Amino acid sequence: MYNSKITGLGYYVPENVVTNDDLSKMMDTNDEWIQERTGIKERRWIKEGSEDTTAVMGAKASRIAIERAGLTKDDIDFIVFATLSPDYYFPGGGVQLQDMLDMRTVGALDVRNQCSGFIYALSVADQFIKTGMYKNVLVVGAEHHSGGLDKTNRGRSVTVIFGDGAGAAVLSRTEDNTKGILSSHLYSEGKHAKELIVESPSIKHWVPALIAANDENDESYYPYMNGTFVFKHAVVRFSEAIIAGLEKNNLQATDINMLIPHQANLRISQFVQKKFKLTDDQVYNNIMKFGNTTAASVIIALTEAWELGKIKDNDLVVLAAFGSGFTWGSVIMRW
Ligand code: UT7
Repeated sequence: MYNSKITGLGYYVPENVVTNDDLSKMMDTNDEWIQERTGIKERRWIKEGSEDTTAVMGAKASRIAIERAGLTKDDIDFIVFATLSPDYYFPGGGVQLQDMLDMRTVGALDVRNQCSGFIYALSVADQFIKTGMYKNVLVVGAEHHSGGLDKTNRGRSVTVIFGDGAGAAVLSRTEDNTKGILSSHLYSEGKHAKELIVESPSIKHWVPALIAANDENDESYYPYMNGTFVFKHAVVRFSEAIIAGLEKNNLQATDINMLIPHQANLRISQFVQKKFKLTDDQVYNNIMKFGNTTAASVIIALTEAWELGKIKDNDLVVLAAFGSGFTWGSVIMRW
């Protein structure tokens, strides 16, 4: 068995900053409510007319990650692409990335696990590397939320939370078994699928039926979230996933050097930080600047923390996420 290690990281966010005050001009909301409930001050939304899409942002982040890994596109053996907002209903973003980066005809897998998408994607890549099948896997999380949000009062409890962006990691084979991904832990509980969902279009709500109904009050195109219910589950599941990772590796919370929680809500991150008695230096949050970018959030935060020098050689780094599905999980690694 080989080990797998992140050798390159990159992220990209659109340049268009949307502040809470900007949102208060579109819907009945305000900076105080958004900051108090979520910690978010601003987010990036793709501007109309921009070339950016989910796949384009994924490609921009990937180019940075591949270069930082000291590799070229031809060294990449496989792509895992996580998103809930692909450019097309099908095919998924993985093949677009293969084309945009002008890569060899390597395999491309799409992961549909929403907020925990990057954790799932990284775990899949880890297995391919540990078995010896691939040497370098490109793992991407990218989201274009802004195009699909309800920007009227009706959507305010969801719309103010989400942002656009992408992050990418190159996961590479290493024979040093003291470094890299120690373990990953994945979970789901589908009975709560409807607590955080976009129902249409789908086979149940297929396009001809939607067109025939021509119902402008149809909310099924927009994300629905039972916020309080999701929040309560999130704090429990985040903690469980972290504990599972620590126990598997005979580690304690005091061993954590850096926790990167999915950026769902600053209050969730703070709850988890308090539960594990971590200091501000041991947890990295950037939801204030970027909002919740779902599958991109963990990888954007990890990249930014690394760029700021907050992750050092030999650090124990814990990634954890929870979201729609419900799905949740963690990845424990030695940097
Ligand atoms: O990333 C995937 C996982 N997602 C999560 O983990 C998110 C979990 N949930 C949350 O983060 C929080 O539940 C929210 C931030 C979504 C909402 O915060 P909350 O404290 O649970 O608020 P609430 O939904 O209970 O709403 C409180 C009040 C309501 O008014 P009334 O009924 O008390 O009069 C809402 O109508 O706030 C109102 N409200 C708003 N007011 C101003 C809802 N959205 C807004 C808004 N601006 N944008």
